[in-house]
Amino acid sequence: MSKNTVTQYWLGALTVVFLGLGGFFIVTSAAHPATGKKIPLVDVKFLDRTASRRTYADLVKAGEDLSDYDCYGCHEKGKPPPIRYDADHKIIVPKEHSDVVMGHGSHDRNNLCYNCHNEQNLLTLQVRDGHEVGFDNIPQLCGSCHGPNLRDWEAGAHGRTSGYWNHSLGAADRLSCANCHNPHAPRIPTRESAPAPHSLHGPAGTTTPHESTH
Ligand code: HEC
Ligand code: HEC
Ligand code: HEC
Ligand code: HEC
Repeated sequence: MSKNTVTQYWLGALTVVFLGLGGFFIVTSAAHPATGKKIPLVDVKFLDRTASRRTYADLVKAGEDLSDYDCYGCHEKGKPPPIRYDADHKIIVPKEHSDVVMGHGSHDRNNLCYNCHNEQNLLTLQVRDGHEVGFDNIPQLCGSCHGPNLRDWEAGAHGRTSGYWNHSLGAADRLSCANCHNPHAPRIPTRESAPAPHSLHGPAGTTTPHESTH
């Protein structure tokens, strides 16, 4: 055999080996698609952003019935409605306000109407330092007693902020306290918590739904 023939022989053999290996890899990778358990997508019920309550501001926006807020349709200006109590010193809510069912705080600690409503002007709310705030500014009212919750809400850690974290891309979208809490009875029953976030690639041996669709 000449030197040339030997070289051609080896090159030919190598080509066959590489083609064989290539075929082997294609077949075995198809037989074992990306391995590991899939991490399921979060149940959509945790992503539902429908507010559980509509506030005064929502009624105004939707142009709906505001007669509950027409305080001076029934009350006299300059005459704060007197608060009545029963023998156990529990507030008696008149039948005209039967939708107001008080239960704010354990032992009804914050049931007194004028802790929040302004007796001098029923059309406004009042915060602890005596400032008036509008019915469309409920977080300032709540925050005057619940400072840490207001701080968390403003930072986006309480009250399910959505929209954009990066404000140069768009606005953050916040629900008002009263979209979730009824101001008169704000306790929310404990609910099922959403699953914790997982790292993009998941623990070893798992794939995200995103990866596995590729
Ligand atoms: C449909 C008529 C009506 C409207 C509207 C109305 N009220 Fe009253 N309210 C009454 C009546 C009647 C009473 C009981 C008699 C009284 O104290 O004057 C009352 C009592 C009250 C009391 C005393 C509650 C208690 O437990 O003793 C407060 C506080 C009050 N109203 C606040 C308001 C505020 C704030 C608004 C507006 C957001 C408003 N009301 C709108 C009819 C009304
Ligand atoms: C005048 C002060 C004051 C204002 C204003 C106020 N709260 Fe409260 N809140 C309290 C007190 C006091 C408690 C009871 C704390 C306790 O029992 O340990 C309470 C309890 C709560 C609780 C816990 C559940 C419960 O009933 O114990 C929630 C939730 C709450 N408030 C939400 C709100 C929201 C929302 C607003 C605004 C609409 C608001 N609060 C306005 C004083 C206030
Ligand atoms: C913790 C603060 C707080 C207390 C205490 C409170 N309110 Fe209110 N109230 C509010 C806020 C805030 C709104 C506006 C609710 C909204 O936008 O959803 C409101 C709304 C109302 C309304 C109009 C809407 C409706 O449900 O009819 C009436 C009337 C009313 N309150 C009466 C009273 C009476 C009477 C008392 C005392 C027995 C009382 N409130 C105690 C904060 C309070
Ligand atoms: C998207 C709904 C939502 C909004 C908006 C919201 N909250 Fe809450 N809040 C909750 C839930 C849910 C809980 C926890 C209930 C539980 O499991 O105990 C809670 C708990 C609370 C408590 C009870 C004590 C605590 O710290 O856990 C307070 C007080 C409170 N919120 C105040 C506020 C105030 C003030 C605002 C507005 C500045 C606000 N919340 C806005 C849903 C909301």
